[in-house]
Amino acid sequence: MEEEKGIFSSGKFWTAFVLSWFLLSPVMAGPVAASTPIDSITKKDPLVSNGKQLYADLKCSYCHSLKGQGGTVGPALDNVGFRRTKEWMADHFRNPKTVTPGTKMAKMKLRASQVGALVAYMNSLGGYTFTPQAAGLFKDHCSNCHSLNETSAFTNDLSQEKRFRDMDFLMDYISDPAGMNGYAKMGGFKGVLTRAQIKDVAAYIYQQGR
Ligand code: HEC
Ligand code: HEC
Repeated sequence: MEEEKGIFSSGKFWTAFVLSWFLLSPVMAGPVAASTPIDSITKKDPLVSNGKQLYADLKCSYCHSLKGQGGTVGPALDNVGFRRTKEWMADHFRNPKTVTPGTKMAKMKLRASQVGALVAYMNSLGGYTFTPQAAGLFKDHCSNCHSLNETSAFTNDLSQEKRFRDMDFLMDYISDPAGMNGYAKMGGFKGVLTRAQIKDVAAYIYQQGR
């Protein structure tokens, strides 16, 4: 039968000691902690935090959801910053009927500063950004078959994708069309472009018309 070991000689104690050192050291080192801050955009921009507070105070979630939490009267707002321009949103908050005739969203008497804060918060949602290389990627790999021109009669125009598709769909389709659509004529870009490039070009498409 094994003998009980003293706590300091037990392996578990030293493992815990070393682990806690690693966990606590960023705290001890002060504000240079390596962990990524949650919601960095909200923290950086006071307008965004004000908007977030207004979103709660004005009970927007009665009709809208974020990350699956909230009502379903209006659309989910997770990526709204990528679907709508700042101008559209400001008009929408000043008087929803001017941009959506017959909308169920009531006119709220908001001050200009509140409109600005809500727009900033809405615009911070989502988080898809693209690099300066994205336009070149689209030109080199996609523009033979696709346009990004809202007025184009070309059926393969991708400028309205943001209204019908989400980022996951775009990335999956670009990677492997046959996996999404049995009749796909488009060849997949998995192996041709890196995952990061596929995300880049998808975000670029998503951002069109903003
Ligand atoms: C009574 C329900 C209701 C409330 C409350 C409400 N909305 Fe809406 N909202 C809607 C409906 C319905 C739509 C879709 C029609 C439209 O575009 O007006 C909408 C549209 C939107 C859109 C455009 C979404 C898109 O995808 O085009 C945004 C942004 C928005 N609301 C933000 C807000 C915010 C922020 C608040 C709180 C200040 C709020 N809404 C309160 C019902 C509501
Ligand atoms: C050789 C022509 C060709 C090239 C090159 C091409 N596509 Fe396509 N793409 C198509 C065709 C045709 C469709 C229609 C569905 C199908 O046949 O796959 C399509 C469909 C799509 C769709 C789905 C649209 C939807 O909402 O259903 C996306 C997204 C897309 N392409 C993005 C891209 C991107 C991004 C690139 C460049 C990285 C690219 N395509 C390059 C021909 C092409």
